[in-house]
Amino acid sequence: MKIVVIGGTSLLGRYFLNTLGSDFEILAVQRRSFSEAGDPSLDERCRLVRCDCLSRPDEIRANITGATWLVNFISDGRVDACENNPKASEQINLQFPLALARHCETHGIKTVNFSSNVVFDGLKAPYCETDTLSPQGVYGAYKAEVERQLGHSEQHLVIRTLSTYGIPFPNHYRTNPVFHLMTHRPETRVRAVTDVFNNPVYAQDIANFLVMAIRKNLAGIYNVAGADRLSRYQLFEYVFRACRYDLKLLTAARDRDFPGLPRPPDSTLLTDKAVAAGWRPGHIEQDIKDMLEDVGSTKIS
Ligand SMILES: NC(=O)c1ccc[n+]([C@@H]2O[C@H](COP(=O)([O-])OP(=O)(O)OC[C@H]3O[C@@H](n4cnc5c(N)ncnc54)[C@H](OP(=O)(O)O)[C@@H]3O)[C@@H](O)[C@H]2O)c1
Repeated sequence: MKIVVIGGTSLLGRYFLNTLGSDFEILAVQRRSFSEAGDPSLDERCRLVRCDCLSRPDEIRANITGATWLVNFISDGRVDACENNPKASEQINLQFPLALARHCETHGIKTVNFSSNVVFDGLKAPYCETDTLSPQGVYGAYKAEVERQLGHSEQHLVIRTLSTYGIPFPNHYRTNPVFHLMTHRPETRVRAVTDVFNNPVYAQDIANFLVMAIRKNLAGIYNVAGADRLSRYQLFEYVFRACRYDLKLLTAARDRDFPGLPRPPDSTLLTDKAVAAGWRPGHIEQDIKDMLEDVGSTKIS
């Protein structure tokens, strides 16, 4: 089966490509090679087409013939940057995925796109797939529109997820907060909010869902999140304990102490639909241990 992956240098792309079985033929379309991103092993596994996807969608269209699935990982997930530059966010987070999906429809190719917990205002958690959308910011509004337009078709899968932790490519444009904490022993205090809750998820668990969903030919919207509802403070407590850091350095903060768009107070996602399809959400304690082991073995810092 041929799969086209757009934006394979993303955090989720890295886990997905390392999880996909060798029975899949992978074509990766992205602006950087995997070697440039810092993981040359994937250059051997995938056929690569380098292009600036946003300005050259024709390059993508010319290469997807014969594909069964197209998975789009490209986005700008920096919520506050999107707020400051809504036009750029609209192009990457809304226009690009919709145009690509419409093109795939005409060629009988199924697509996967990703949505976010910020399609909800966080006042009525926990949320299931059919709850009414209530986005607060620009990024959430574009993700909500992708859900509305693609989430109810047999030809598209939309994975709604949230605060993901994992090991990004070494030369990634942004780090991952949990990864950063695991690889930088704190010497001064670390502030984390106690008043914003959701169920953080390990990137490996999302990759497991995605591979299963492709094999089972799933479509529609699926919530994919962790088994435990936590604040960022509680999440960091797990990391501090696993890394044997001094917990006295972890200090409580409020969401309003940080600049930028207020985060939804509780955007916990219910995952019963994904579980009914055969997936299992990970528990925080085990997932943090697994990730820490991988950090040690890959020696990425
Ligand atoms: N991570 C989370 O916590 C989270 C939570 C909820 C939803 N999601 C959604 O899940 C999906 C994957 O997220 P992720 O965190 O894995 O992504 P990511 O690590 O932030 O990677 C984004 C990808 O987009 C590419 N990209 C960014 N700007 C581009 C541009 N102007 N032109 C071409 N490519 C560009 C990057 O390429 P380069 O490597 O070349 O920069 C990279 O491959 C996204 O739709 C995201 O919104 C993520």
